[in-house]
Amino acid sequence: MKEFLNNAFNLKSHLMEYLSIKECDLDEFLANAKMNLANSHPGETLNDVSDFYSEIVGDRHLADLAAWHITSKEYIADTLKLQQRFSRDLVLDFGGGIGTHALANAMSSKVEHVFFVDINKTNRNFVEYRAKELGVEKKLTFCETIKDAQISKFDTIVCFDVLEHLADPAYQIDIFNNFMDSNSIALFNWYFYKGEKNEYPFHIDDVEVVEKFFKTLQSMFLEVFHPILITARAYRKIR
Ligand SMILES: C[S@@+](CC[C@H](N)C(=O)[O-])C[C@H]1O[C@@H](n2cnc3c(N)ncnc32)[C@H](O)[C@@H]1O
Repeated sequence: MKEFLNNAFNLKSHLMEYLSIKECDLDEFLANAKMNLANSHPGETLNDVSDFYSEIVGDRHLADLAAWHITSKEYIADTLKLQQRFSRDLVLDFGGGIGTHALANAMSSKVEHVFFVDINKTNRNFVEYRAKELGVEKKLTFCETIKDAQISKFDTIVCFDVLEHLADPAYQIDIFNNFMDSNSIALFNWYFYKGEKNEYPFHIDDVEVVEKFFKTLQSMFLEVFHPILITARAYRKIR
């Protein structure tokens, strides 16, 4: 945890090296990241939600996530504390972004292997680079979809700040359920809100989609109490 709070696992130096960018330019890149990402969203004209992450964002999402992990490090550290409590054996990190959670899990002695799944190739390549820099690459596999992992059951599923980015989050947690057994644990959070000033135009907030998500969640999962962070929840399958 200390290592993350110190320098976010060397995030800035990884970004400078990976993007071949100087420190002064990186600071500007990070300062404008949130707005740049929001402005790149095509709005109603986007046919397939996932195209935004696979085709449009490029390295703008790296910058946005990096700026967020640096400015909200206490919050991110709490999500790391949460996964430290529950993560074990085979871990799926779905929508792993810049890799903070996957890298921390790979550093844990309770974790055998981490499958980092992200639709965005830039993110996958960046986290693969970071894993090598941090010496944990043997404990990570990088995949575009869950199917590519070729695993039938995960002991831990981590899905932080991703569900609101999907067209049908209920469908996604149904898929997760199929990859769990009665001892598996899933860690989820969500933010079905586009923001006060539409800062998150890519977040899903449709009432019916959100209602379907909560009905599915309640029909398939039982919450496991933890005292760490009330916005992130732990679940087992309903037996
Ligand atoms: C807001 S970021 C969250 C990243 C990370 N989990 C975190 O907490 O920092 C959402 C991530 O989900 C990924 N994503 C979006 N749609 C996806 C999909 N259909 N399959 C896999 N990953 C997806 C994006 O590329 C992005 O990295």
